[in-house]
Amino acid sequence: MKMENETAIVTGSTSGIGKKIVELFLMEGCKVAICSRTEPKVNQTLAEFKEKFGDSVIGAPCDVSDPIAVKSLVDKTIESFGSVRILVANAGVNLTYGPFQYLSLDKVNSDAKTMIGINLIGVINSVAAALPYMIKQTYGRVITLAGGGANRPVEHMTIYSASKGGVLAFSKCLAEEFKKNENDIKINSFFPGMINTNLYKAQVIEAWKDKKTHEREMELVKKYVMTDIEKSCGTVIPYALPTCKKNGESFRGFSVMKLIKGFKKLSKELKQMRADNSE
Ligand SMILES: NC(=O)c1ccc[n+]([C@@H]2O[C@H](COP(=O)([O-])OP(=O)(O)OC[C@H]3O[C@@H](n4cnc5c(N)ncnc54)[C@H](OP(=O)(O)O)[C@@H]3O)[C@@H](O)[C@H]2O)c1
Repeated sequence: MKMENETAIVTGSTSGIGKKIVELFLMEGCKVAICSRTEPKVNQTLAEFKEKFGDSVIGAPCDVSDPIAVKSLVDKTIESFGSVRILVANAGVNLTYGPFQYLSLDKVNSDAKTMIGINLIGVINSVAAALPYMIKQTYGRVITLAGGGANRPVEHMTIYSASKGGVLAFSKCLAEEFKKNENDIKINSFFPGMINTNLYKAQVIEAWKDKKTHEREMELVKKYVMTDIEKSCGTVIPYALPTCKKNGESFRGFSVMKLIKGFKKLSKELKQMRADNSE
């Protein structure tokens, strides 16, 4: 087991990618603290993991957009495990999917507050709460979740992408500060690939005229370009270990070649589907 002496917090870990990372860490002997906003989901996830991994897992409801809640999760982790050596700042949401121009000003404003508040400020809060302990112990591995649109343009998730671009910039800039001192603290960002989780339940914008087409196309996207969650999340482990010397980098949980092949198949079917529709 590679993580027997490790302690971690994984935020947003009652479903999807966060939950899978927790499972993989626990399997490697790591002690892990989990959280999400929803108490029953935290309790249910804790019960599932405790059955297999006993006291190696703790958890609490915690909204990462609230700095006090995050600080209290970090304190609880230190109390239970004696340290926090790894932080996976994973919690994230996508509220809407579709062209920005179809969103009303009110909707843009409320979506932006929520998505930036959780995806970006939530990451900043989590890092800020854990960092003093990491500095004290002169050691830490921080992994932040980047995602679609963070480093190249993608359509239809503009506000989400803006939050992820912010996460990437924040992570790289913070890593720069730790290159200059003797602490063994590394901050890297994870691009998991497209993984079929609750994130894809984002509301498709009602007023968008291509909504129906999009929904059909999404089925094909799920068929051809989704990444396997277990393989993807497995790539996080090397970045969480003392042997990781990378800092300020981003890493992928998917194979670019496989993705290109998937997109080729996808575009062939989409062409056919569009031709059929125009007949
Ligand atoms: N799926 C993908 O293809 C993909 C691709 C690139 C990046 N990502 C990123 O990966 C991360 C995980 O996403 P996922 O796909 O696994 O989505 P998911 O299945 O919806 O999981 C999100 C988790 O975060 C929790 N959460 C949401 N808001 C929170 C908050 N304010 N405080 C604490 N926990 C919160 C959710 O629980 P509650 O709602 O109960 O709080 C849930 O446990 C996100 O940062 C996402 O942007 C995903």
